[in-house]
Amino acid sequence: MSWTQLQRSFLISITVINMTGTLALSVFTAVLGSFQFGYNIGVINAPQKIIEADYNATWVHRYGEPIPTATLTTLWSLSVAIFSIGGMISSFCVGVISEWLGRRKAMLINNLFAFIGGGLMGMAKISRSFEMMILGRFVIGAYCGLASGLVPMYVGEIAPTSLRGALGTLHQLAIVTGILIAQVLGLESLLGSEELWPVLVGVTVLPTVLQMVLLPFCPESPRFLYIIRCQENHAKSGLRRLTGRQEVGDLLAEMKEEKRRMDMERKVSIAELFRSPMYRQPIIIAILLQLSQQLSGVNAIFYYSTSIFQKAGVQSPVYATIGAGVVNCAFTVVSLFLVERTGRRTLHMLGLSGMCGCAIVMTIALALLDSVPWMSYISMLAIFGFVAFFEVGPGPIPWFFVAELFSQGPRPAAMAVAGFSNWTANFIIGFGFQYLAELCGPYVFLIFAALLLFFLIFTFFRVPETRGKTFDQISASFSQHPSAMMDLDMELGKRSTELDYLGGGGSLD
Ligand code: GLC
Repeated sequence: MSWTQLQRSFLISITVINMTGTLALSVFTAVLGSFQFGYNIGVINAPQKIIEADYNATWVHRYGEPIPTATLTTLWSLSVAIFSIGGMISSFCVGVISEWLGRRKAMLINNLFAFIGGGLMGMAKISRSFEMMILGRFVIGAYCGLASGLVPMYVGEIAPTSLRGALGTLHQLAIVTGILIAQVLGLESLLGSEELWPVLVGVTVLPTVLQMVLLPFCPESPRFLYIIRCQENHAKSGLRRLTGRQEVGDLLAEMKEEKRRMDMERKVSIAELFRSPMYRQPIIIAILLQLSQQLSGVNAIFYYSTSIFQKAGVQSPVYATIGAGVVNCAFTVVSLFLVERTGRRTLHMLGLSGMCGCAIVMTIALALLDSVPWMSYISMLAIFGFVAFFEVGPGPIPWFFVAELFSQGPRPAAMAVAGFSNWTANFIIGFGFQYLAELCGPYVFLIFAALLLFFLIFTFFRVPETRGKTFDQISASFSQHPSAMMDLDMELGKRSTELDYLGGGGSLD
């Protein structure tokens, strides 16, 4: 299929489902949180040396001597990694908070963390305090942990079935845009300078202000209002605004069915997700998908790309890093166009296999670098390919897939578990990669290749297709015949992932 055909089919599907202004505004507003998540992943990479110099200046000011190298390394590692710890802790609370406050209010209040985190980091230099910077990274990490659960949940719940994947991918598109903008602004000629780095890290409060202004104009998730809060009238008016239709009885009927099922179940706690045979299979799939995203090794690139490019003999590593950011964005857009056409499962497998291939090419190129100098180009291309394949599937899909696998009752607990798994694996790679790289030298990416192969096999045998199905159909398929569904899934997966093994893709619209 040509690029123009792809564009046309995307535009047609948008027109057919009637993408209303309210839906567009609500998704845009929500993903401002994802943008900040990405921005704070990318922002710490380029100005490392400059911020370290300030840590040293503070040390000299306090103790009259330069900071010992080991202490500086520890302080810097802490500044980087504490972000994921904040994310780990807060992502675990996504379930409780989103049920207590609702999705929209939870996003609104989460902005407090962004203000505090951004403020602490922005004021750290003037206050001569690396403690403020570290604490700020922790708090902004907590903001991002909540956003990484709340945004896909809200977007998944307000999106019509036929656009759920495409709109869900916007979460990832906003993350990668945030990473790229942070990489560009982090250039020394822009904000990554000795004087301006506090602006670079503090500017994260700007999207926060915008989100706070816009959120009151966005409706609360009608599924939350109706299924959890039993507020039928509010849910109806939200649905009318989101769809632009007066008659929303069919949508309500679908929610009613989900609510009827949910009322028959007990409240689902995290422990129950693992105990109940009905949820065990989807929660294992959710966790493994998140692990496939993080243990693919992509953040080894996003945290340490500059030094990886340096070791690979690339001439301008900072610009190569920005190149990786551009490829990252471009291929997320490709995924956006493909996800409702090709399906989640196929794209995820395509991404994992492509990454596995690129990891092997990268290893060969790094191993031959000393004897064949042009191998530096091959390893740079392999890194670009690795990132591109990541964004085709393993980047965007796990985030919204979890929301799709579960119905309203268990969804918040499942999002918490999935988010926690994602952030924990993120922390492990962020912290452990440098040690692994030292230990394994040019062969370090073989570890990721092996993990990618494992996740590919798992996806092939265990992950179902969810495209075009209502939440109720997806969860019913697990609850009724878990093993039968998987057998059928494997059988059909072999023939064609296009087939609708759950018996028709109902649509919200
Ligand atoms: C995903 C991951 C995040 C990673 C990013 C790279 O959003 O969750 O950890 O940095 O993709 O694009």
